[in-house]
Amino acid sequence: MMQMRETIDPAGVTRFTLASGAQIPVIGLGTFGSDKVSADEIAAAVLDAARIGYRHFDCASVYGNEARIGEALQSACNVIAPRKDFWITSKVWNDKHAPKDVESSCKQSLGDLRLEYLDLYLIHWPYPNHHPPGCDIDTRSQEARPYIHADFMETWGAMEKLVDLGLVRHVGTSNMTIPKIELLLKDARIRPACNEMELHPHFQQPGFLQYLLKQHIQPIGYCPLGSPGRPERDRTPSDTSPLDDAVIRAIANDHRVHPAEVCLKWAVQRGEVAIPFSVNPRNYRANLLAVAEDLLSPEEMEIIAAVDRNCRLIKGQVFLWKENQSWHDLWDENGTITPP
Ligand SMILES: NC(=O)c1ccc[n+]([C@@H]2O[C@H](COP(=O)([O-])OP(=O)(O)OC[C@H]3O[C@@H](n4cnc5c(N)ncnc54)[C@H](OP(=O)(O)O)[C@@H]3O)[C@@H](O)[C@H]2O)c1
Repeated sequence: MMQMRETIDPAGVTRFTLASGAQIPVIGLGTFGSDKVSADEIAAAVLDAARIGYRHFDCASVYGNEARIGEALQSACNVIAPRKDFWITSKVWNDKHAPKDVESSCKQSLGDLRLEYLDLYLIHWPYPNHHPPGCDIDTRSQEARPYIHADFMETWGAMEKLVDLGLVRHVGTSNMTIPKIELLLKDARIRPACNEMELHPHFQQPGFLQYLLKQHIQPIGYCPLGSPGRPERDRTPSDTSPLDDAVIRAIANDHRVHPAEVCLKWAVQRGEVAIPFSVNPRNYRANLLAVAEDLLSPEEMEIIAAVDRNCRLIKGQVFLWKENQSWHDLWDENGTITPP
């Protein structure tokens, strides 16, 4: 392994420029503890990550840890860098899609995170379908519904109002599909700045990525390492792991780095923001440095493009709205929105 620097000069953290002109750091720290890493551990990682140069944190109310992360962010803004240097994302959960709930949920996240504004607020899933934390994948809520565009636009209108109120700088989407984004772009007053989605070498979504880049909507890739620590309920026997891919491992070997670092270099070099989770100081430090130096060659980028397995890990089964449906129905795979 290469000798590692202790910190990275924050001025050296690459940023992508959004359609608004704002700049988003290309790497952020994920904060979902996968039901097993405590809020305290994650908050400690957030503060230490800020100390070594992270300027972007990906949060969500449903992760159940924003209040503890808020303490870390407050210290970071007092001691490490001014608030304006950080990029903080949060997300409205599925049971808060009613317009009045969107505003109160955002205010709750702002209070918990101890912030006056968010840089980005996302609709976490395009379905208002709630499920109890930690439930198994066959759980269905009686109130579960399909995607209803008119309802989604009511939620989006409430998101736009948050921008008008100055509570959030940008709004965006997560777990969308091209047909759903097409409808949103037709009807939105404020366009989504970013779309957060699963992206890693075994689930590359090349068409969707190119579509977003062409629309000047910044793709943010979650599970960029293939989420090796994800909860049991999100695992199926056919899942594959980019960290165990022979091609990724060979490239990592050539660069004398961990395969995780190859996944992150590849992600950022293809135009995504990557938000790897880690509470291990060695790992989150390596991840930050990985996207700042020793980049992949065009040939290596092409070789990795060929390892795609179209292997979606976060299938979303609990958000289905009828019995006997397949998780594929959530993802509009034939290019049209799955009918109710
Ligand atoms: N919008 C959405 O619906 C959505 C869905 C899923 C996730 N997300 C966001 O995306 C973030 C990342 O996703 P994720 O946590 O599922 O998956 P991930 O970032 O692909 O994988 C995280 C796992 O990789 C390990 N790891 C990190 N860096 C490593 C390194 N350099 N070497 C070896 N192992 C390493 C971590 O363990 P250690 O802690 O031991 O390093 C952790 O177990 C989440 O935290 C969340 O913020 C969003």
